[in-house]
Amino acid sequence: MKRILTGDRPTGPLHLGHYVGSLMNRARLQSEYETFIIVADVQTLSTNFAHPEHLPEDVRRVTLDNLSVGLDPGKVSIFIQSMVPQIAELTVIFSMFVTVNRLRHNPTIKTEAGQHGFEDNMTYGFLGYPVSQAADILFCRADLVPVGEDQMPVVEVSRFVARRFNELYGEVFPEPEGLMSETARLIGLDGQAKMSKSLGNCIYLSDTSEEVRKKLMSAVTDPARIRKDDLGHPEICTIFSYQKAFNPTEVCDIEERCRAGTIGCVACKKRMIEVIETILGPIRERRLQFEAPGMVEEILRTGTEAARQEGERTMEMVREAMHISYFQR
Ligand code: TRP
Repeated sequence: MKRILTGDRPTGPLHLGHYVGSLMNRARLQSEYETFIIVADVQTLSTNFAHPEHLPEDVRRVTLDNLSVGLDPGKVSIFIQSMVPQIAELTVIFSMFVTVNRLRHNPTIKTEAGQHGFEDNMTYGFLGYPVSQAADILFCRADLVPVGEDQMPVVEVSRFVARRFNELYGEVFPEPEGLMSETARLIGLDGQAKMSKSLGNCIYLSDTSEEVRKKLMSAVTDPARIRKDDLGHPEICTIFSYQKAFNPTEVCDIEERCRAGTIGCVACKKRMIEVIETILGPIRERRLQFEAPGMVEEILRTGTEAARQEGERTMEMVREAMHISYFQR
């Protein structure tokens, strides 16, 4: 079976943008691929190094988010990055042949450096996170990496690392492919380009029905529509973009009626609330099951053990290829 590796930084609850960007693909592909899900706690420190105290709660939350979308802990290995030492070992090895310029010019690094205000003064770890992420992906010799659009340039670094390693030392790694979903990006509730926790414009997987209702009812639509029979412009409407993402069977009909002024924004929003509830309802139920005391810890413990074993297999191949397998360990 081919392998998937993907995952998240534990920085807070996951939202519908994560769901359409990557979580849906994870759940869909878990039976076709041997799947590893990384909870990237060390990567969180690339920006949050001063606040490690939030990690335990955020690690638990992001694990629950993954389980709640239907990832089956009997099939997939969910593990904690910092507890798989082979990832740290590979990071050091890969860092020897990735140039600083390649990292400085990486579009994701540039955008995120801008967001955090560290264009002229970034840490070694932040600049190098794509190298560490290459180790996240390659420690289990993954073939496929389902991610949102914003992460594609980082996956590109992993592809480079795999190719370059193989060229330098011999064939060890598959060249991992990024997999973007059909809806690569979800517009924020405020109409901004993307849902993002820092912008506060998200619907979280863990939101209650009441929170979802309030958020959608107050979302911006087409400003040209004042009365419900005004002609609409779905292409500029946030709610319509959600209809496209979540309501494929009705989206054409809704588009026509919006343009013709025969469906108003309130009715359109109410329908959207129902559709989102059909997605979030089962997610909330599954979350409840996994919230039982000790369950998340047990799932992470098992997943982390599986990841370590795979990491050690890879390290043996790496040491052999690099002539650093000096004697029996
Ligand atoms: N960088 C990803 C994010 O910010 C999280 C992540 C860490 C990841 N390691 C990974 C994603 C490996 C895919 C593969 O969401």
